[in-house]
Amino acid sequence: MNVRDSEAVEALLIAAGHTKASSEADAELLIVNSCTVRQKAEEKAVGKTGYLCTTGKIVGLMGCAVKRLGENVFKKLPKLNFAVGPRALGLIPKIVSDGRFPRLELGDEGLGDALSAHTGNGFQAFVTVLVGCDNRCSYCIVPDVRGHEYSRPAREVIAEVRALVKRGVKEVCLLGQSVLRYGVRNPAWDENDSPSPGGYNEPFPRLLEALSSIEGLERIRFTSAHPAGCTDELLRAYRQFPQVCRHLHLPVQSGSDRILADMGRRYTRSEYLKAVEKLRQFDPEFALTTDVIVGYPGETSEDFEETRSLMQEAQFDNAFIFKYSPRPGTRSAAKEDDVLKEEKERRDQVLLADQEKRGLERNRALIGTERDVLVEGPSKRNKSRLSGRDSGNRIVVWDMIEGSAPAPAGSIVKVRILDAHAQILLGEIV
Ligand code: 5AD
Ligand code: SF4
Repeated sequence: MNVRDSEAVEALLIAAGHTKASSEADAELLIVNSCTVRQKAEEKAVGKTGYLCTTGKIVGLMGCAVKRLGENVFKKLPKLNFAVGPRALGLIPKIVSDGRFPRLELGDEGLGDALSAHTGNGFQAFVTVLVGCDNRCSYCIVPDVRGHEYSRPAREVIAEVRALVKRGVKEVCLLGQSVLRYGVRNPAWDENDSPSPGGYNEPFPRLLEALSSIEGLERIRFTSAHPAGCTDELLRAYRQFPQVCRHLHLPVQSGSDRILADMGRRYTRSEYLKAVEKLRQFDPEFALTTDVIVGYPGETSEDFEETRSLMQEAQFDNAFIFKYSPRPGTRSAAKEDDVLKEEKERRDQVLLADQEKRGLERNRALIGTERDVLVEGPSKRNKSRLSGRDSGNRIVVWDMIEGSAPAPAGSIVKVRILDAHAQILLGEIV
């Protein structure tokens, strides 16, 4: 979501007549996009901004940390020129051209401009369909900084994706903190929209249906999901539309019912595993990734072992493990952060090692299969190789063979898998 926000601000500044600098040293204006989901992330962004403020250039800070810090941002960064919260990004070009510093914007003004601005390069695009979050999980600061959940009108989203596809985009990734809640809090469709040809009643599957009819759009991804959104209609959309990628990022956070209840996640371990089973039954190669928090207040070693066993049962393809960090103003911040640093570290390492092994096993099972891969370009590590992703978002790398048909970035090729690592599949072009 932050990558998307940075892109939107870049596009708005370019539209206002600015040009992109080739490096940090060359830039006259520097803007740091910040995250505050964990304390470390915020410290990094503020630290970097503090350093940039010593260069004497115009410096701005944007994003979630600004919203959390409010006026205090100028106490931490006295030389900062402007600070803009995550829903006010559309104001940045005007703030820069006005040049009246210091300036702080924390509201919703300019939200629409930032939602629809794209730089227009490339074949992949992020499209924000839902902003904010109302879930209020106990540990999470996102609802405080990103505000209430709001779904963009479907008509607007569809028009935006159409325009992107016209400019060469082959893959879109629909973004929302809890994207399957699209159209739940506020309606995204209205009576003037044409009815769903497939009889979809739920707003998100209906959006997938509408986007699937766009000629030239090869792939549709979305993130992040909550198991409550894994409905039969969503499964029907997966089945009906091959463009919809066989991957879901489904953060579980914990495998212990006690901890899940305390977090306010609104599902049990068994409900979560039922959603997993549905997806895997539909397609055994369906890729599932997740987020896990270790060291939540009161997490015992038994709770932790429940998380460990859930991860094994769910057979995740990849997982992001986070050490709990109390965020001011959240419900869990009132509890004692009682799992020792060393113990959090140990639990982190255990889950990482488990996942490494599991990822390798799961990837090895794909050796011999042929996969449709969207080419992204030369591999970062080895320029004589090409890299891309399969429908499950798995990274696939293969050697460029002299004399074989070109495989430009953005095209889809068939790759036979010959070898596997935990994070990467190696193959040959078919
Ligand atoms: N401490 C640690 N991890 C957190 N996350 C969110 N809030 C916290 C916190 N206070 C993790 C969750 C979420 C991911 C984006 O960040 O796992 O899914
Ligand atoms: Fe935070 Fe929960 Fe919303 Fe995700 S769903 S952004 S963890 S409150």
